[in-house]
Amino acid sequence: MKLISAIHHAALRVKNLEEGFNRWSHTLGLHGEIHDGHAILRCSHEDFGLLLMPSSDKPGLEYVAYELAPKVSLSEAKTELQARGLSVEEVQIPQRGTGLKLQDPDGNNIVLLERVRANPNFPSEVGYSSRIPGFHPRKFAHVNYLTANAKQAVSWYIEKLGFGLTDWVGDEGCWLHVNADHHVLAFVEKGYNHIHHLAFELVDWGEMRVALDHLAQNARPVVWGPGRHGVARNLYSYIRMPEEDIFMELFCDLEQLVPDHEPRYYPDDAHTSNTWGILPPRSYFRFDAEAIKSESDQTEAYLERIPMPI
Ligand SMILES: [Fe+2]
Repeated sequence: MKLISAIHHAALRVKNLEEGFNRWSHTLGLHGEIHDGHAILRCSHEDFGLLLMPSSDKPGLEYVAYELAPKVSLSEAKTELQARGLSVEEVQIPQRGTGLKLQDPDGNNIVLLERVRANPNFPSEVGYSSRIPGFHPRKFAHVNYLTANAKQAVSWYIEKLGFGLTDWVGDEGCWLHVNADHHVLAFVEKGYNHIHHLAFELVDWGEMRVALDHLAQNARPVVWGPGRHGVARNLYSYIRMPEEDIFMELFCDLEQLVPDHEPRYYPDDAHTSNTWGILPPRSYFRFDAEAIKSESDQTEAYLERIPMPI
């Protein structure tokens, strides 16, 4: 039984709802509303891709929501998940009603939602809007976690939720799919569990230029990129959002999988990471204050200079 067919949204805990709403809206060109104590933000023609909730807990990722496959009801999914030995809880999700909440082995929260059926005669019912076109990503597209045990995490998503294995990089990195997109989920083993990034898809390289110029003008420098990953073959840029203890990735040109895709095993080398040749700074897998400061100070460039030739 195919359970899941798409990623839907990520929910972030924020310190201040209005500040978070304004910052994420402005940074990514998202639009949305605040109501009933939460904010929803959308890229374009979607109900939403990001949900912000005020919390006194440490700001960060609360959960990632996926949509069930077509014709799979919430109650069928609940029965199936329980038969697979999982404990699931019904929760209420803004705009979408009841969802099923569960946890992966790393303690990451997952919410499953029934798929919203589009009208086949007019699939884009939000085709008309009064908004002036401008910069925004096309969609919220994937999530990447750091983990202390990649094999355990990956096996769980494959066995319990039916995700498909796309690629491994060495023994450390694994990418998983639920549809033609190369991945909606990835794990990189770094010795501890932490969200690494939420990724938003841009249309093309030209939009990447618009996005990065906009971010630069708003004091959001690129920590790694632009480059092209060997795995998934996408163009990428990573920007830190220290307010929520997370990176965001802007990407385009992601590999689309064929229906009979077979997993591949890439070597863990520089080309697999970035075919254009520049590896990330050592701060890239860290979320502590010292790592963040090293990026703003560019210490790797300034403190370890190559001796000048005589
Ligand atoms: Fe990514």
